[in-house]
Amino acid sequence: MQIRPAKHTDRKEILEICSEVWEGHDYVPRVLDRWLEDAKGQLWVVEMGGKVVAFGRHSLLGPGEAWLEGARVKKEYRGKGIASNLLDHFLDLARKEKVQSLRYATHISNVASLKMAQNRQAKEAGIFHLMEKEVDTTYQLPFEPERVEYSNEAYESLKKSLYIRKSKGFFSYQWKFRLLTPNTLKSFLQEGQLYQYGRGYLLLYPATPEHPYLYISAVSGTQKDIESLLLWTFNQGQKRKATSIFAKIPPEKSFIELFYRLNFQTWEKDGKPDIILFQFIPV
Ligand SMILES: CC(C)(COP(=O)(O)OP(=O)(O)OC[C@H]1O[C@@H](n2cnc3c(N)ncnc32)[C@H](O)[C@@H]1OP(=O)(O)O)[C@@H](O)C(=O)NCCC(=O)NCCS
Repeated sequence: MQIRPAKHTDRKEILEICSEVWEGHDYVPRVLDRWLEDAKGQLWVVEMGGKVVAFGRHSLLGPGEAWLEGARVKKEYRGKGIASNLLDHFLDLARKEKVQSLRYATHISNVASLKMAQNRQAKEAGIFHLMEKEVDTTYQLPFEPERVEYSNEAYESLKKSLYIRKSKGFFSYQWKFRLLTPNTLKSFLQEGQLYQYGRGYLLLYPATPEHPYLYISAVSGTQKDIESLLLWTFNQGQKRKATSIFAKIPPEKSFIELFYRLNFQTWEKDGKPDIILFQFIPV
């Protein structure tokens, strides 16, 4: 088994592996060209007998802050320890790069991903409810929150918010989670957006052609500010070419009730939190 950085010539084999995942609804084909062009070479493949049988991506979201995503193993090679080997390789890489934390998030139904984390004593850094709502083209609000730049006031408002406190300090976008600090917020705002309404703030991650969804990353303010900001996102989805709005909300009753009331839905029928964020400290 050889683990090496991916090359453009691996593209066809990688796409073949993706076609076997989630009935062909994998997002990796949409991001693959960008991942392959990444000058830092963060996409890795596992080769066996001259064939690419697995891959995964290890990237730095910020200094000392590594993120793992897109692990895929070819169907007939699953259950043979290949993803575990790839994870150990990423942990070695993180140790060499003196990374302080390496994280990944997974759905509770993904037994292999849960086991790999638990077998390596990863810490459960957070647990969240994945909430989704289709964009609502009819919804109109008589106000526009103001789009604002980074400020200490915005940071403090978010940092002290119930949403962030109950999320154990994390905010999320796409499948990623980051600890909220002044630096991670500034770095998020290179692509993400910050809105103010009343005394509240909303962190929003826009839809892209690769991920046509709008992500609610965090929200602060009074109950009324929060509700207004969330309502405003509904018809923003349409303007921003998103098909759905997603949020990974903390396990806090008031948020769960509010999101349900606003017609968000969970993937899990029983309403249990379903996304686990794992954290490894590579020492
Ligand atoms: C998730 C995935 C990457 C795991 O790859 P893999 O090479 O099969 O994983 P491993 O063989 O290293 O198994 C890891 C652990 O899970 C266990 N495991 C693997 N598949 C399992 C299954 N279907 N049910 C129960 N346990 C399973 C293994 O026994 C191992 O535990 P152990 O070390 O205690 O024996 C692979 O199943 C896959 O590509 N799935 C589709 C895409 C996906 O879900 N990616 C992850 C997104 S977070």
